Amino acid sequence: MTVERLATAGDLDGVLAIEDASFNNPTTREWYEAELKRPEVCHIYVLRTLECPVAGFCAFWRVADQIHINNLAVRPELRGQGLASHLLAGVMAESARMGADRATLEVRRSNAPARRLYAKAGFTEAGVRRNYYTQPVEDALVLVRNPVP
Ligand SMILES: CC(C)(COP(=O)(O)OP(=O)(O)OC[C@H]1O[C@@H](n2cnc3c(N)ncnc32)[C@H](O)[C@@H]1OP(=O)(O)O)[C@@H](O)C(=O)NCCC(=O)NCCS
Repeated sequence: MTVERLATAGDLDGVLAIEDASFNNPTTREWYEAELKRPEVCHIYVLRTLECPVAGFCAFWRVADQIHINNLAVRPELRGQGLASHLLAGVMAESARMGADRATLEVRRSNAPARRLYAKAGFTEAGVRRNYYTQPVEDALVLVRNPVP
């Protein structure tokens, strides 16, 4: 398995297929294409396995010494095998290499797999955004991972 920056149009198609399979209101191709025009801030990484060129992805912004994770998902048929944990570890290592050692994100309160994933990676709850999500309406938990001392 490798974690690499999104490189080709085929990679973007792979990301969009996972978006469609994972979220009620998937992020659009237009959003990704706009993001890819500002690579200094917007970073999209894909998880590759021997069988699958885009098994998962993570999109985040890097601003100064921190990153904000906007999206992270794994192909539905490949979940529960540690792939997201590997992807997240790769993303955190890449961000540290860039000098960003603090991370934030929002997650649905009801999203047990994602909350478990982030807790295992050292994220802790820093706040709540009421009714942040739509389809369905739900609170977001704000999670933060501070630098490991
Ligand atoms: C959240 C998500 C990325 C996890 O991917 P994954 O590859 O299955 O995750 P991993 O296999 O690395 O597992 C990470 C942890 O989550 C736990 N987990 C996985 N599926 C779970 C489930 N259905 N219920 C509860 N916990 C679960 C695992 O048990 C694991 O913890 P453990 O090692 O202590 O057992 C995946 O479920 C997904 O793509 N969901 C849809 C998109 C999404 O919600 N993204 C998060 C947006 S913030």
